[in-house]
Amino acid sequence: MSRRVVLAYSGGLDTSVAVHWSGAELDTEVIAVAVDVGQGADFEEIRERALRAGAVEAIVVDAREEMANDFVAPILMANALYEGRYPLVSSISRPLIVRHLVAAARKHGADAVAHGCTGKGNDQVRFDVATRSLAPDLEIVAPVRVWGMNREETIAYAEKHELPITISRDKIYSIDENLWGRSIECGILEDPWAAPPEDVFTLTVPTTSEAVELVVGFEAGVPVRLDGKSLGLVELIERVGALAGSTGFGRVDMIEGRRVGIKSREVYECPAALALIKAHQDLEGLTLERDVAHEKARLEPRFSELVYDGMWFSPLREALSAFVASTQRDVTGDVRLRFQPGGGAEVLGRRSPVGLYDENLATYEGEDTFHHEDAAGFVRLFGLSVQTWAARQGVGRSPA
Ligand code: ARG
Repeated sequence: MSRRVVLAYSGGLDTSVAVHWSGAELDTEVIAVAVDVGQGADFEEIRERALRAGAVEAIVVDAREEMANDFVAPILMANALYEGRYPLVSSISRPLIVRHLVAAARKHGADAVAHGCTGKGNDQVRFDVATRSLAPDLEIVAPVRVWGMNREETIAYAEKHELPITISRDKIYSIDENLWGRSIECGILEDPWAAPPEDVFTLTVPTTSEAVELVVGFEAGVPVRLDGKSLGLVELIERVGALAGSTGFGRVDMIEGRRVGIKSREVYECPAALALIKAHQDLEGLTLERDVAHEKARLEPRFSELVYDGMWFSPLREALSAFVASTQRDVTGDVRLRFQPGGGAEVLGRRSPVGLYDENLATYEGEDTFHHEDAAGFVRLFGLSVQTWAARQGVGRSPA
């Protein structure tokens, strides 16, 4: 009996060829799993394609809610930006997809999972490490890493075997998209000096010449309202993305340090992610106690790095998420955002029923509740060690 493998299927060139190639070269039955993470694809069409490429079974999973609640919410609460800029778009869909690959492997008695990643990128790391964390007993097959075909040869393979691909030889960009944003690589973008051509963008094409204002309402760190209207997280992200993106907001163009040691030029458009992180961070300024806020800010880059590196199902990522979640209890309130035509955005105001801002303490006008007489003693002791040190140095003493 031939082996069974569960393949993460996108409907694109590499995974379509992988279905056929695995059957022919590895003598395996392929079960294709296509996961809807909000990439806006036609999944009925993708399912049929998988079957026409030779899959014995093709499964479509609608995982948009899961993506929002189990992956986006925790990284938004952590204000996660890899290298300070990239909101981890592809990094979070991989562990989610692996969850479904492993579930399908168990259900269908497969002994391996497969993906269509190359050996140069981060996505293979995320697929492999997540698989090992959830199912240490399953084998991992990565046809693209072993078949040794370049892009031309892969297209030729597909044509020779009459595989249902729509790819054309001049489709030059590698795109990955989900609810949290879109990444664009390859083609002219491989020259880090070349500006991204306008036609690479779809989510941040300016369609308005007016500023857009919106109010995002959070409960315990999670956005739940837009302009006063309660929305589920998936819809809220889509709406914020459409509104912010219509002004051109949400582009990132950066040189990024991949886990495998390669620097790469990455272009992203993530209007919803960047808008919601901006709002969330601002609300934390109002609602987090000072030491908690500072400690959290120190841990956020480490958290982002772990998620980027494919360590979603690791004990450290889970422990950091538990810390982050415990800080979010009072991150409740509203943030007003304004997006200027041309891509700029600012926070106009914020409010919270549990905010730590006390006008009576902060004011410089008239009566307040601050104990001014406490300040002098506190500040004297606070500066005492530096004062002692300075005196020992002879600072201020006139030269003999
Ligand atoms: N550089 C980004 C990351 O590592 C984007 C990867 C996009 N993946 C793709 N197959 N095009 O998360």
